[in-house]
Amino acid sequence: MAARFDLVVRDATVATAADTMRCDIGIRGGRIAALGEDLAGGAEEVRAGGALVTPGGVDGHCHFEQELPDGAQLADDFLSGTRSAACGGTTTIIPFACQFKGQSMRAAVADYHRRAEGKPVVDYAFHLIVSDPNPQVLGQELPALIRDGYTSFKIYMTYDILKLADREILDVLALARRERAMTMIHAENSDVITWLTEKLELAGRTAPKYHAASRPQPVEREATHRAIAFSELLDVPILVVHVSSRDATEQIRWAQSRGLRIYAETCPQYLLLTESDLDRPGGEGAKCVCSPPPRTPADQAAIWEGLANGTFTIVSSDHSPFSYAGPKGKFLHGPNPPFAKIPNGVPGVETRLPLLFSEGVGKGRITLQQFVALTATNPARLYGLYPRKGTIAIGADADLVLWDTEREVTIANAMLHHAADYTPYEGLRVRGWPTLVLSRGETVMRNGEPLGAPGRGRYLRCDPPAAAAPRGRPVVDPALF
Ligand code: URP
Ligand code: ZN
Ligand code: ZN
Repeated sequence: MAARFDLVVRDATVATAADTMRCDIGIRGGRIAALGEDLAGGAEEVRAGGALVTPGGVDGHCHFEQELPDGAQLADDFLSGTRSAACGGTTTIIPFACQFKGQSMRAAVADYHRRAEGKPVVDYAFHLIVSDPNPQVLGQELPALIRDGYTSFKIYMTYDILKLADREILDVLALARRERAMTMIHAENSDVITWLTEKLELAGRTAPKYHAASRPQPVEREATHRAIAFSELLDVPILVVHVSSRDATEQIRWAQSRGLRIYAETCPQYLLLTESDLDRPGGEGAKCVCSPPPRTPADQAAIWEGLANGTFTIVSSDHSPFSYAGPKGKFLHGPNPPFAKIPNGVPGVETRLPLLFSEGVGKGRITLQQFVALTATNPARLYGLYPRKGTIAIGADADLVLWDTEREVTIANAMLHHAADYTPYEGLRVRGWPTLVLSRGETVMRNGEPLGAPGRGRYLRCDPPAAAAPRGRPVVDPALF
């Protein structure tokens, strides 16, 4: 008799954002076809023996092959980056197609598709980075791109080459409201950073640890509040990305308690690193330079609380891998660069799930259901990929992670699959690691070995996010915009 399923994962402890159940998972044609007891045979079988199975992770914020104007280069391309993702249990990634000022948004998107061609081993979508919202981009390109499945974009309040003025932010938010897109906002006050950086440089305080002093909490708090105010004015949802501090978390909580549609993202670096990591000896602080910067243990505690009480919607990696030793990485501008010349970002696409599982679920700070929601279900919902991605349900893609929840691992860069030459978490001990990762029913990692063929990952067109559906009346009369 022909097998009913291509693959059956037998006797799994299946965790979704809603509950945990013990069952078999029947897979056919790359999708979950059945969940139940004693399912009929599969052409292949995986005996889970009661092991935990979670939905494949959805990393809603990572950077691969993104062009940087000062000549710095991200270490990962779409092959090494997605391999690394797969090995850490992430089966969907959403990196960025970045527009530079003066460039057509459509041309930027075509360029990033070309970069990805033939490389990804897991499925991928794109957010857009909008740095030049001119009339052509706002009037024609973005509406058409949103209809074509690019339904989220990131805008910056800082970085000279990317930042938007407040009135441009309002233009983009008005468009997002009209066209039902999700706007991600990098919230830091640019002028204050520039002013403080100049003062620190004049005082000769240029070591990596002063990166934190150039962007203290009020810099993030003020910009976060400003972004919230803009969202309220136009009644349009926003997602504040890579939230690092107690103050910004409080702003977001305050806005949510008033019924405003403010979503928030944090990243493992804000749960595991502090500003003291920027002062690692021998220039190694450069490894942890990212923006906003890692902060204090009190900030970490506030973010953990925000994860537990629902302030945060998603946990992403913000994987931005610059090499430490290579010529186009952290020391692109020489051996002792001032902090302002150190490329911002840390690698983390592979460690995101194990770190949050071990430090969060393992230490009782968040539940297993919250872990699944934060790392898979919520990003899939927020970016219009649910229920195809982010859950274990009949009809969903068979993107699954089988865990050894007891396995103790000391993180070392040598065991990771990214192309960066360091991890900021070297030597950190975690309990729990993925042992088998399936993407649409195909094995892309088994016992640490990457298996997916380059280019097997499919491009995903995103739906308009349900969260971006029109709601109430904005403060500003909508007839005006
Ligand atoms: O330092 C960071 N976060 N670098 C990556 C780019 C960004 O702003 O997300
Ligand atoms: Zn950012
Ligand atoms: Zn980023």
